[in-house]
Amino acid sequence: MHDSSRSTPWTAVHREARRFDRYDELCREVDALLAGEPDPVANAANAAAAIYHSLTGLNWAGFYFLRGHELVLGPFQGRPACARISLGKGVCGTAAAERRSVLVPDVEAFPGHIACDTASRSELVVPLVRGSALLGVLDLDSPQLARFDEGDQAGCEALAAVIVRHL
Ligand code: SME
Repeated sequence: MHDSSRSTPWTAVHREARRFDRYDELCREVDALLAGEPDPVANAANAAAAIYHSLTGLNWAGFYFLRGHELVLGPFQGRPACARISLGKGVCGTAAAERRSVLVPDVEAFPGHIACDTASRSELVVPLVRGSALLGVLDLDSPQLARFDEGDQAGCEALAAVIVRHL
């Protein structure tokens, strides 16, 4: 007889382990991909492409870099996006101003969300910080509601730490 009280926890643990493996592996792949190339634009471009093609359900993956008091669009994969975002504005500007990851399960419920691609339904933005310096943000968008959770946030924070070493 099927006993869901026994199978559910195992399934949850199993999924968690697979997700960790995926980000762990992606971190190693991105690190190897960027190793030896000193140019930050080349490395950001390859990182965006690797993330976009490795994670499922994305319609945009890329970078905004801090230039003065605003974020300026960097290398990305996806539809064309807004070139400049003021600190404190939108999901990206909030993550940058507060230097914390911002997980948005439903972009329509985030006041001030900037809709670059109207297909986007959920978003995860992770700050790129080196020492005391804010370099910019890593931004992931999805056409699925609640595509990202705390596991994705932790995985993308680990990815951001790898990428910062190559910028
Ligand atoms: N939605 C972002 C803008 C950037 S695009 O998603 C690529 C925001 O609210 O900051």
